[in-house]
Amino acid sequence: MLSDKLKQDILRLQEQYPEKRSALIPALHLAQAEVGSLPDAVQREVAELFNIATTEVYAVVSFYDMFSEYPQGKHILHVCKNLSCMLRGSDQILEKLCHKLQVGPGGTTSDAEFTVIASECLAACDRAPMWLVDDQVVGPVTEEHIDKILDQAKNGPGHPSAMTGWEVGNG
Ligand code: FES
Repeated sequence: MLSDKLKQDILRLQEQYPEKRSALIPALHLAQAEVGSLPDAVQREVAELFNIATTEVYAVVSFYDMFSEYPQGKHILHVCKNLSCMLRGSDQILEKLCHKLQVGPGGTTSDAEFTVIASECLAACDRAPMWLVDDQVVGPVTEEHIDKILDQAKNGPGHPSAMTGWEVGNG
């Protein structure tokens, strides 16, 4: 599933770290940017490149919100549900958003336009209740903002890979 070029990029990436397994997270970003998600087969290929067990790759993929085993929508809406945001109404806003898009948290709309992720603290508590919309911090969000945020996201370029522009050194 991974292209030969990407495999070579990952091997070069490993050379930039004293311990090659330190390159695992950036390597997973590259793999996800190429494939669109990190299904089992891709996790196996990455594990082989690092000479580690697939379960170790899975442990990383399943821990971080930024990785997904399943295809995601063009736009990703991370809705913070942690304490500061929850105290300022994030639960109700998330419920309203999910109702509007007809998905549950973690779900993707049938037109593949939006994926909604209920996230832990996104480190912008001063903007509570806040969302991360295609990697842009938005907040404080109210129920009245939902339509406008969705429209703006739709008119934007979509979710950028966290590793867009990542330069893999030549060793
Ligand atoms: S609790 Fe929501 S950003 Fe910190």
